[in-house]
Amino acid sequence: MAARTADRIAVVAHRGSSEDAPEHTLAAYRKAIEDGADALECDVRLTADGHLVCVHDRRINRTSNGRGAVSRLELADLAELDFGSWKLRHGGARAGEEPGTDPYESPDTDSGPDARAERTAVLTLERLLQLVADAGRPVGLAIETKHPTRWAGQVEERLLDLLDRYRLDSPVRVMSFSARSLHRVRLAAPELPTVFLMQLLLPRLRDGRLPAGVRIAGPSVRILRAHPEYVERAHRAGNEVHVWTVDEPADVALCARLGVDAIITNRPQQVREQLAAL
Ligand code: G3P
Ligand code: CA
Repeated sequence: MAARTADRIAVVAHRGSSEDAPEHTLAAYRKAIEDGADALECDVRLTADGHLVCVHDRRINRTSNGRGAVSRLELADLAELDFGSWKLRHGGARAGEEPGTDPYESPDTDSGPDARAERTAVLTLERLLQLVADAGRPVGLAIETKHPTRWAGQVEERLLDLLDRYRLDSPVRVMSFSARSLHRVRLAAPELPTVFLMQLLLPRLRDGRLPAGVRIAGPSVRILRAHPEYVERAHRAGNEVHVWTVDEPADVALCARLGVDAIITNRPQQVREQLAAL
C-alpha cells in the first residue's frame, strides 16, 4: 500500500465539526457536511432501553444539562435534555453571538424552537444514519463502539441491525479500542471494514500488523510523533492508517508528510484547507 499524497487524504470530522458546534449533535454533523468532511466520526453507547446514542463519555454530565450514566438512562430521559448549551459556556467558536440568535443554525435548516431543540438534542445513531442518507453526496461514517464488552455483543448487534436497515451508499467502518468488539463485528459482517484504535503502540504491533482481519490502524497522533516509521510499516503490511485527533497544523503537516490515509479532526474545514495548500 502506497503513502497518500495530501490531496488524497480523507478528512474525518471527529464527533462532527466539534470545534465549532457541540460534539455529537445534529448541528455538529450538519456543519461537518457543510465543511466538506469526507466522513463523520461518532461514538456509540447503549441506553438502558437498548437504543444506540452518540455520546462519548460514560456519563452525560459534561455534555448535557443532565446527570448520570447513559447505560442507566432511557432514551426518553435523554430526549428531555439539552446537549448544546455546555458548548457556549465552554467557549464554542460561535459563543458570544447576539442573544436570541441560534448560534448553531445552518442556512439550509429550519428555524424555530423545535428545530433548535433538535439541533442540540441527544443524537441517536439512527438519526445520524438518516442525516448521512439525506446528505446529497457520499459522506462516510466511522462509528466507534465505546466500552462494548460489558454489553456482551448487544452494541455490535444493534449497530449491525441499523446498518442493515439503512444500507447507506457511503463507506461505513466500525472502530474500537476493543479487539473483541471488532472481532464480533467481523464474525457477523465480514465485509464491513474495521479500525483498531490505539492509544499506545504495543511492541507486538510495531511492525504494522493488526489483529486478525482488521485492515485499518487507528493510532493516536502521539504515536506518530514518537514512531513516524509506523505509517510505512503499516502500509507495507497492507493496512491503512487513520490518525486521531489531529487539530494542530504541525500534526496535520506530519500526517501529510507520512502519507496517512485519513485524518480524524475536530476542525475538518481548516484541515482540508491546509492539505489543499500543501
Ligand atoms: O477517532 C478515534 C478517537 O475518537 C478515539 O478517542 O476518546 O475521542 O473517542 P476518543
Ligand atoms: Ca471516538
